[in-house]
Amino acid sequence: MTASPPSALPSDDPGGRGRRRARVRLVVALAAALAVLLPLVWLWAASLVPSSYSVMTMGPADTGGVALSHSHRPGAAGGRDVTTLVEPDRGPPDVDVTLTARRQQVTVPGGPTLTAYTLNGTTPGPTIRAREGDLVQVTLVNESVPDGTTLHWHGIDVPNAEDGVAGVTQDAVPVGGRHVYRFRAAQVGTYWYHSHQVSHEQVIKGLLGAVVVTPRAGLGGDVDVLGLAHLYAGRRAVQGRAGDVPVEVPAGARARVRIINTDNGIMPVWVSGAAFEVVAVDGTDVNEPTPVEGKKVALAAGGRVDLRVHVPASGAAVRVEMGGAALVLGPAGSSTPATRAPSGVVDLLSYGSPAPLGLDVAHPDRRFTYSIGRRPGFMNGRPGVHWTVNGRMFPTAPMFMVAEGDVAVVHIDNHSGETHPMHLHGHHVVVLARDGVKATGSPWWTDSLEVLNGQEFDVAFVADNPGVWLDHCHNLPHARDGLTAHLMYEGVTTHFRLGRGTPNTPE
Ligand code: C2O
Ligand code: CU
Repeated sequence: MTASPPSALPSDDPGGRGRRRARVRLVVALAAALAVLLPLVWLWAASLVPSSYSVMTMGPADTGGVALSHSHRPGAAGGRDVTTLVEPDRGPPDVDVTLTARRQQVTVPGGPTLTAYTLNGTTPGPTIRAREGDLVQVTLVNESVPDGTTLHWHGIDVPNAEDGVAGVTQDAVPVGGRHVYRFRAAQVGTYWYHSHQVSHEQVIKGLLGAVVVTPRAGLGGDVDVLGLAHLYAGRRAVQGRAGDVPVEVPAGARARVRIINTDNGIMPVWVSGAAFEVVAVDGTDVNEPTPVEGKKVALAAGGRVDLRVHVPASGAAVRVEMGGAALVLGPAGSSTPATRAPSGVVDLLSYGSPAPLGLDVAHPDRRFTYSIGRRPGFMNGRPGVHWTVNGRMFPTAPMFMVAEGDVAVVHIDNHSGETHPMHLHGHHVVVLARDGVKATGSPWWTDSLEVLNGQEFDVAFVADNPGVWLDHCHNLPHARDGLTAHLMYEGVTTHFRLGRGTPNTPE
């Protein structure tokens, strides 16, 4: 009888050992894959935005260094709903306009033909003109804008219920619907209106127009000229016309030229054939403007400047250039050679003379940081390199909380790799410093502040307009891609909701 060779023992079976090792390797590999995948799945799932949500439940409350009482948490019951924050004067309006929104084919004179959005058949829509203090009423009728629409009054600090943000201050107006906006034109200056429903598409395709509020005392004899600039299918037009747009101004006369940048990027503005002064920025007059020569204005997206231009007595024209389009001011048939954009830029940080700000910025009630970055991750399930505010991605960007009467100082910095025109609704901010250098010029009050990559600004504002307000990038595709936060007053709530299960997509 012979003993079984040891190799016959199952425990010594080399094939079995190999199988076991393979199984262990498989388990380890699976575990490793899960260790990578599970957090990704979790991050993906956590980024999903519900089909209907309130902006109040978006990111965590940032109280700017002030303790938050429980009743003042965003969304706390018993607050004033935004719909109560209306223009208090229910009397007859001084300016009464109906704007009918349509989707239609438009041919820009000298430019492209495209499917656009119009108001009363044109883009830009009718200019709304008011005198300082007028009560303005605008009835928006949606005839054929399929996604619904709204009107937002960019730069006009209207009562919150009139702000026109779908899903925050109202529901989008459906086809066949209408909505009435009322506000007092308390601020003199150059403003504009535009849709705040699917704005990245509706604004780009023309659902916009100008608002001009003139002082009771008049313009001191200046000829009032409007230059709303917009890119239609990539082609720049001013007042809805591409190329050179003649404006009759008598020889020797002075004009106030109101330039509005309704696009997503910075627009250069310069003058050929004369010097100019920057007499207003975002609706606020500049204190003691000085003549500018050989420089351009780098106009922020959404921003406005009023330029004062003297038309020569010689009968030659003056060109106000906007890179691809120009206003030609002068007697009929006059001209002047175009010039190239100067490389120098008017620096609003030091332009004009200082004047009291009228607020105590040394002892603010709240201090906020609005830090713009970018990092890889998921946004509503979409992988990508997304914008962040204070390190957080939409929809968890912070909710900046204030109480009525507060003075707030905000430090804005941008390390995202791109420039962002920052726009706070319902308020104007004054620039205190840029990159640590204090402002030394005329008080620079702005509602559309271009923050270049690598730049930082310190700005201040007074919380004097209760509501729930957007504070977003006005490069509208960026806003759609999450570069949006909100400013919210304690004790104010909104019952409006947004998301794909609602009619509202503000950006
Ligand atoms: Cu001009 Cu929130 O927009
Ligand atoms: Cu941006």
